[in-house]
Amino acid sequence: MCGIIGYIGRGNAAAVGLAALKKLEYRGYDSAGIAVLNTRGIEIRKDKGKIDAINRKLNMNSMQGNIAILHTRWATHGPPTKRNAHPHLDCRGEIAIVHNGIIENYSSIKELLEKEGHTFSSETDSEVLAHLIEKFYRGNLEEAVLKALQEVEGTYGMAVMHKNENKIVAARNGSPLIIGIGNNEMLIASDATAILEHTKKAVYLNDKEVAVVKQGGFSVKNLSNESIDKEVKEITWSLEQIEKKGFKHFMLKEIFEQPESMKNTIRGRIKDRIKITVDIDMEKIKRIVITSCGTSWHSALIGKHIIERTAGIPVEVDYASEFRYRDPIIGEGDLLIAISQSGETADTLAAIKEAKKRGARTLGIINVVGSTIAREVDTGIYLHAGPEIGVASTKAFTSQILALTLFALYTRQEMGMQINKNILNELKNIPEKAKMILDKKDEIKTIAKEFFKSSNFLYLGRGINFPVALEGALKLKEISYIHAEGYPAAEMKHGPIALIDENMPVVFIATKNGAYEKIISNMQEVKARGGKIIVVATEGDERACSIADYVIHVPETMELLSPVVNVIPLQLLAYYIADMKGLDVDKPRNLAKSVTVE
Ligand code: G6P
Repeated sequence: MCGIIGYIGRGNAAAVGLAALKKLEYRGYDSAGIAVLNTRGIEIRKDKGKIDAINRKLNMNSMQGNIAILHTRWATHGPPTKRNAHPHLDCRGEIAIVHNGIIENYSSIKELLEKEGHTFSSETDSEVLAHLIEKFYRGNLEEAVLKALQEVEGTYGMAVMHKNENKIVAARNGSPLIIGIGNNEMLIASDATAILEHTKKAVYLNDKEVAVVKQGGFSVKNLSNESIDKEVKEITWSLEQIEKKGFKHFMLKEIFEQPESMKNTIRGRIKDRIKITVDIDMEKIKRIVITSCGTSWHSALIGKHIIERTAGIPVEVDYASEFRYRDPIIGEGDLLIAISQSGETADTLAAIKEAKKRGARTLGIINVVGSTIAREVDTGIYLHAGPEIGVASTKAFTSQILALTLFALYTRQEMGMQINKNILNELKNIPEKAKMILDKKDEIKTIAKEFFKSSNFLYLGRGINFPVALEGALKLKEISYIHAEGYPAAEMKHGPIALIDENMPVVFIATKNGAYEKIISNMQEVKARGGKIIVVATEGDERACSIADYVIHVPETMELLSPVVNVIPLQLLAYYIADMKGLDVDKPRNLAKSVTVE
């Protein structure tokens, strides 16, 4: 949420910075801006809108100078307007700041500063940081930042520069920030994808750390002004992985990458035994709580089915935002599993801290290596799904389900129970089955053409495929802005059935699993009321076909793994509908890929 870039080096800071900022646009795209330091002082250009449009209007990349800070915004305090766009300046125009996060006590600081004569030009919480640093500035930016941060409550990932100092000061608390070490140039970024073009060497700042970044190096201190040695890490992703490779959108590319990302999640982990390194004695775990947000919450719901059925341990699933404020009953003997693609979601991170405080063990199922959540949990399983850039999550979801399956099997194994060889074989077959569905993209496109003008959709599934219905509906609403609801098919009778008429497309997930017979009856109920039925059915299933108006066939698989297969047509359906509506699929309005505020 909000993307931050800093550049200091021999190159043109504006050109390098803007290219890097574009890679962070998925973090927020309601406004953007840049501050460049040159012989004339600090020059700022910013506006509302997306980076390319602002650049065309303001020629940001023609700005001269070797030091710059840049920002792409996802509005929290104050609407997306030019004056609320970052960077923000102090009163004298000598200090520029970009900030991600929320300064919780900003109004009391602002009031105080106003009394002291400061005048503000935006409605943002971030601007107070520039004025607070100005208040403490006595010729040393680092010192002023350290003093200012003593006064601040809340979260920040920030980069600051002063017109008289050839450096950028960066600080982090709750919002990710990394320093990229290049060849005679240094970068600061909210995440690793932005710096890959320049370097793979990165330093991850921890909470309450402040870095001084100069062309030739960097130093890090904590808020108590003590120096900290930081380890330089190698970023494992490649530049190639964050390119569209001929696909119209990242989302489409990521949907099509699934056979490969699935293979990467299971690679080397299925031998005679399940080989994952989970540093927890599973025999001591009596109960599991899974917590997450958005799409990751849907995979948690599927994980509950998989773990309970495979390992026999009771599992509860909670939204991270609800868990953390609920005074949760959790402690010794409990395992909290946090699922997060980005590894940065603020609510999920807070839920982990809460569970740890109460004595539970914690395990992360994370995609981004080295992310905050990955570092916070006791142990974890990486997805290895590769970078996911499209805001709507796709390949991370299917990899999360596979990782949860591996975890469930591992737990069973650790508890001394036999693992059925069929599931191990089927796990290996799943990537090929995913590919068979992707080969049917044109059939799904034809269905999308029929329905892209609809204003409502209902998605129905049962058992382990109920969360797939939720995920299908979420995909559609996120990127096409069509109202869609996911429901357990049997619950339809208790409300949603009232919505059904000839204008209501109803998507059924009705593959040949446990509740098949029941869901066929639910389809009849919709048909009897004139609803238009689209069904995801098992290859060769004539019955579902005879009731439905449109059929998407998927290959047969085991019930536990069916969500991985069944969700793919729903991802494609949502994608084609949104694309036919001419929408910006990778940057849906109001959404951000990585939600680092509460
Ligand atoms: C945002 C994204 C979703 C994602 C959710 C959780 O809302 O737009 O696609 O599912 O955050 O993100 P996480 O990175 O924790 O999985």
